[in-house]
Order: sequence, then C-alpha cells, then structure tokens
Amino acid sequence: MMDKVRRAGILGTGRYVPEKVVTNEDLSAKMDTNDEWIVTRTGIRTRHIAASGEAASDMAAEAGRRALERAGISADQISFMMVATGTPDYPIPSTASIVQEKLGLSHTGAMDISSGCAGLIYGLIIAGGMVSSGMADYVLVISSEMLSRHLDWTDRSVCILFGDGASAAVVGPVPEREGILSFDMGTDGRFWNSIHIPAGGVVQPVSEEAIRNKDIYMKMEGKKVFAWSVRRMKETADISLRRAGLDKKDISLFLFHQANLRIIQCLSEKMGIPMDKIPIELDRFGNTGPASVGIALDEALRKGYIRKGDKVLLDAFGAGFIWSSAVIGF
Ligand code: ACO
Repeated sequence: MMDKVRRAGILGTGRYVPEKVVTNEDLSAKMDTNDEWIVTRTGIRTRHIAASGEAASDMAAEAGRRALERAGISADQISFMMVATGTPDYPIPSTASIVQEKLGLSHTGAMDISSGCAGLIYGLIIAGGMVSSGMADYVLVISSEMLSRHLDWTDRSVCILFGDGASAAVVGPVPEREGILSFDMGTDGRFWNSIHIPAGGVVQPVSEEAIRNKDIYMKMEGKKVFAWSVRRMKETADISLRRAGLDKKDISLFLFHQANLRIIQCLSEKMGIPMDKIPIELDRFGNTGPASVGIALDEALRKGYIRKGDKVLLDAFGAGFIWSSAVIGF
C-alpha cells in the first residue's frame, strides 16, 4: 500500500470490431427501412456484426491485448481487470473470468461491470481509485458489447442502431496534472425498464412463451432515452468540468457516447461546443454500448488528435438509466 495518493491515468488503449460490415442497404434488403431514414434519424451508415462462434470475451481479449501492447505493459504487471458488458458470454460465470484466461492473467482479480453504456467510464474511475490509493499499480479495463445477439432483427426501430465492438484501456500511475482530474457517476433507477431485455434473468427465465413474445430481445423507449440522455449527459459534463475547475474551452475533445448523431448535435448546441471538438465514430460502428467511448478515445489517440497537455472529457449514458463522465489529462 502507498502512503500518498498518486495520479492515475490512461497509459494505452485498444479496440476491436468484428470483420463483417453491415450497411444500411443490407438492412433495407431485409426489413422496411432505408438508408435515408437511418442516416437522417441516427447518423449511422454501417456497423460491424460478430461472426457466429465469436463471443464477447473474444472481442474483449483482443481489445485488451492491443491496449497492453500500446501501453507497453506486460500481462504480469496487471494486478486487476474489469470487463464492462451488458452482453456476457454466459449468465454465470463473469465474462471477466473468461477474458482473464484468454489473456493469460491468471494472477489477477477479475470482475464484470454491468452499468450499461457508462460501464467503461465506471471501470476507468474504479481503476483510477485503485491506482491512486496504491491498491494496484496497473489495472486493465475492457468493455465489450455484442448486442447483435440480443436484437430482434425484425424490429426496425431498435436493430438499426447497434453494432458489436470492444475497447480497452490500461490505467496506471501518471505524473502530476495528468490522468483522471475529476469524475461524476449517476443512476436513476426509476427508468430501469426503459432499456431492457425482459427474459433471460430470474424474473422471466427463457421459455417458449418468452421466445414467442420476443421478450428475449432488447426493448427500448426511444424517445424517452433520447430526451434523458441529452439531459443527463449535459448535467454530468457540467459537474465533471466544475469539479476539475475547468471551463468547456479548456477541453480539447469531448468524447460522447456514440448512440445517435442527433443526441450529440443536441449536446453540442445546448453546451455550446463546436462539432469539430466532438469526434464521431457512430457512422461507421453504430452504437457499440460501453465500448463506444473507448473506441472513440482509441481512434483519437491513434490519429494524433490528442496531444500532450490536452484535456479530454468522456461522457456516456445508457440502460439503468446510468451515466458517467470524467475529465482526463494527457
Ligand atoms: N426505418 C424507417 N422507418 C422507421 C424506422 C426505420 N428503421 N424505425 C422507425 N420508423 C418509423 C416509425 O415506425 C414511425 O412511423 P410512423 O410515424 O408511421 O408511426 C416513424 O419512423 C418515426 O418513428 P419515431 O420512433 O418517432 O422516430 P424518432 O425520430 O423518435 O427516432 C430513434 C427513433 C432513432 C430510435 C430515436 O428515438 C433515438 O435515437 N432514440 C435514442 C435511442 C438510443 O440512442 N438508444 C441507445 C442509448 S442507450 C444505449 O446505448 C443502450
């Protein structure tokens, strides 16, 4: 254990998306939708969908491997790992156990995080706390979402929104003035059933009736989700900025959860942030759940959009309703 609190930050990131690309035209051939509707209402043009036989743990392991590589940290230096997912390989055990085995991290603790699309940011904050307090030196945080397996591919209002993917980050000690400068985490359980899969848990185990009623698929109240995500993502961003003692102008990039371009445009308008400070990845990947913010962060780092001294805001909202934000210095 360390006597002194130290700064924790992101040492390296990785991402993985499955090979297969599904375009809006591909979807239009299967259901009553079209490219124009999808692009106008969501901004999404393509998404990646996992191959049969591919699991959330496979995507997670690949993203984790790449993050370790980019951080220059070996597997045996990691002391704890987390996998944020709403689409675990199995109800029991945790997907983190399976990923731990795939990455050869047999000496670490491992756990899943079920915090909807905010899961990766929740994980980064928990990892940051562990590193800052000296409980751990290096923590691997992964998010992996394979919603394609939980979508009703005849429900055009939901299935067009999502893609499969994973992202990861190694959290470790960083110099003063870098790393996680502030954060906020929130939940509003009144809306727990506004995004949910009714069957498959203990309340409604999978049955022929559940399958017939399509209760095994994700249900979503689209308009409610839209309105609350704009409200909560703005509120949490304001809180994290205030806690960091920073103004919007001090932030180089705003990495918002990539659910829908219109949600992001609303945030840009309400917060007075120019769109060129908000990377957009959802056009290529769709909504990849908790992985989306990490994919956007990985892209921004790899393309050199984040430079030494920059401050970046991460901000996500999802099923629960759960949201979270963090200001991170590089
Ligand atoms: N193609 C063509 N028409 C469609 C489609 C489609 N894919 N989907 C719905 N429509 C039709 C509807 O049937 C409706 O027709 P009607 O007027 O004849 O009844 C019409 O389009 C309008 O439908 P709305 O649901 O009112 O469309 P809206 O503008 O609200 O857009 C959307 C729907 C895109 C789902 C929007 O509500 C939204 O983005 N919500 C946020 C969802 C979200 O981001 N969820 C994820 C966040 S949480 C997480 O990541 C798990």
